[in-house]
Amino acid sequence: MTTKRLQIKNVSVKFGGLSALQDVSFEIDDNQLLGFIGPNGAGKTTLMRVIMGMITPLSGSVFLDGKNITGLRSVQRIHAGVALGQQIVKPLRKMSLLDNVALASGGAKLLSPLRALMVRERSEEREVAQELLIQVGLGDHVQKLPNELPLGFLKRLEVARALALNPLLLLLDEPLAGLSKPEAEQMADLIASLPRKGLSVILIEHNLLQVQRVCPTLYVQSNGRALAFGDTNKVIAEPEVRRAYLGVDA
Ligand SMILES: Nc1ncnc2c1ncn2[C@@H]1O[C@H](COP(=O)(O)OP(=O)(O)O)[C@@H](O)[C@H]1O
Ligand SMILES: [Mg+2]
Repeated sequence: MTTKRLQIKNVSVKFGGLSALQDVSFEIDDNQLLGFIGPNGAGKTTLMRVIMGMITPLSGSVFLDGKNITGLRSVQRIHAGVALGQQIVKPLRKMSLLDNVALASGGAKLLSPLRALMVRERSEEREVAQELLIQVGLGDHVQKLPNELPLGFLKRLEVARALALNPLLLLLDEPLAGLSKPEAEQMADLIASLPRKGLSVILIEHNLLQVQRVCPTLYVQSNGRALAFGDTNKVIAEPEVRRAYLGVDA
């Protein structure tokens, strides 16, 4: 049996009386870009938080490269290779883009942002940060402060910060939200360029046009339940998906 990059097995989460996730299972291979769609309140962010260890599920388990990480704390999961790019970007406003990314890179090694602060001058982290900022198209802005840049650039900074953790699995929660059409297209191209040996990406998005363009595989969730999984074009054509997500009668 081949080991999967990520396996979610029968995960359920409740918030009080509300079932946010019900018996959700799916898996991703190495080197894969998986699109993840579903209406608002479908439990997409909740599932990302379960994978990241920010929410403990009522039942079910999470495996990374065959290793059961269900009981690990978030910081241990980062060390094991899981990184999350949040929907609301919160860079450190008083630090340059370079320092923001160098800090994430140092923090990944030290597992402590505080200790990372002390060593962020180290050239190794700064070199990694510089390369990552070039990779996400921010090479001309490394010394700028976050407040000097538009949202589109900060979304890319968020991707660079997550990549600085050197992840095996990168979770991106609505990275195209709030971007103009050309910006969204550029960001989708950037995300599509990320999967490679040693990195798989889950892309949560409402921008179906871009998801369909760049994600070969799609997972759909609705009301906390898995609705469909598989080849993107086939999944989008499924009557149940069209009814639940696209609001059209098939
Ligand atoms: N921390 C929380 N406490 C209580 N309810 C929550 C919490 N987080 C999410 N929910 C609820 O769980 C459901 C799923 O939310 P969420 O995972 O944010 O959905 P999505 O990201 O797909 O829009 C929603 O009904 C939401 O209101
Ligand atoms: Mg969400």
